[in-house]
Amino acid sequence: MNAVIGHWSHENQKRVEAIIAAYPQRRSAIMPLLYLASLEHRYVSEDAMREVAELVEITPVQVHSVASFYTMFKKNDVGDYIVSVCTSISCYLNGADDVLAAAQETAESVASDSDDDVAVISVEHVECIGACGGATAVQVNYELLEGVTPERAIALVNWLSDTRPEVVLADEMQQLFGGRRSFDWGSTESFGATGPVPAFGPYGSAQEGR
Ligand code: FES
Repeated sequence: MNAVIGHWSHENQKRVEAIIAAYPQRRSAIMPLLYLASLEHRYVSEDAMREVAELVEITPVQVHSVASFYTMFKKNDVGDYIVSVCTSISCYLNGADDVLAAAQETAESVASDSDDDVAVISVEHVECIGACGGATAVQVNYELLEGVTPERAIALVNWLSDTRPEVVLADEMQQLFGGRRSFDWGSTESFGATGPVPAFGPYGSAQEGR
């Protein structure tokens, strides 16, 4: 390996080598390496993008074009909890703008009342998250919650701030704060997210909940 990895832990440096070795071409490793960078720092910094570029032997601009296309690769630090409010058409028609405003105002309020140096809760708006039948749909650390109203969004953000759950579980949030769900026949899921990086990776971003 030619590149010097200056910003990642020793453990993740070893993972980098394993990831690159798994692909016939180095450039094919770009997405899992960006994911690993997210796990390392909770966002993909400019330095991390440059390092990934060097590792997979493409230009930083090419890495940036991939990282900027996928909104789950955050470019700035985020709180322990990302509240993502869908504002696409079905949710918009069901009051998503009001849900978003309620979540943002509550998050700002709890941040200003807190002693934390960094805001614990980040609120963002996102495009369709595939739960249109349960509009308005919201995710917390990519765990889904359907049928959200402004009042439920306020309660959700206050709950996150007060309880700081170690594992965020979709089913638990749905019971506590959700409205009508688009599919209620699914089995209960016991695994949830442990942080603001999407929990679809192989490196400890999901965990069994209560
Ligand atoms: S429009 Fe909001 S989940 Fe599809």
